[in-house]
Amino acid sequence: MFISYKVDDEIKLTYPLELNAAELQKVVAGSNEHLNRWVPWAKLDFSHEDALVHIQFLNDMFTKNSNFWVFINYRGKIVGGVGLNRFDLDNQATDLGYWLAESAQGNGIVTRACSAMIEYVFTDLGYNRIELRTNSENQKSVAVADRLGFTKEGTLRQAEVINNVFRDLDLYSLLKEEWD
Ligand SMILES: CC(C)(COP(=O)(O)OP(=O)(O)OC[C@H]1O[C@@H](n2cnc3c(N)ncnc32)[C@H](O)[C@@H]1OP(=O)(O)O)[C@@H](O)C(=O)NCCC(=O)NCCS
Repeated sequence: MFISYKVDDEIKLTYPLELNAAELQKVVAGSNEHLNRWVPWAKLDFSHEDALVHIQFLNDMFTKNSNFWVFINYRGKIVGGVGLNRFDLDNQATDLGYWLAESAQGNGIVTRACSAMIEYVFTDLGYNRIELRTNSENQKSVAVADRLGFTKEGTLRQAEVINNVFRDLDLYSLLKEEWD
């Protein structure tokens, strides 16, 4: 795992630290309606305390080897996150997730950040399969999956609760041999 990773001249991935809480709060609160629809933890009244709790949760999950999330910094500012949600060592598989501030959309930031993460998973971790789950109504997220070369495998029915509503998730995957 890494603390800081330069993707290109505009994008850097950084491990979440408590000192990032104020910046995270501002980014999420500034985009809350956009994020709240799809990202369960991005509450509409996202506070500094919520930001701190979220960062502590990510740190805790990382130390338990359960996930690895990093912030996406674009031109020096945190604009989103990209991460791995599960490490299935036996089957060399993991799950990819991402989010981006509304105002940062349309610049290929998540596609570039995910490409770096995928490269890291297949090359450095030596994994074989990356899964990605997204709601079919989330067109921008589906477009990210398509742009990265993921294949849709099927629909997981009522697999996620967002704002007290069960939602279907489409399951996508990318294999190492396809990335190579
Ligand atoms: C899903 C989400 C991350 C997509 O953001 P996005 O900005 O559309 O995705 P990217 O950062 O990859 O940018 C792609 C766009 O930039 C453009 N672009 C510009 N330069 C680019 C480059 N170098 N490479 C790729 N795309 C580029 C693409 O054409 C595309 O534009 P379009 O939407 O007009 O076709 C964002 O909408 C979001 O955070 N939504 C809420 C949270 C969420 O849904 N998370 C996922 C839950 S499964």
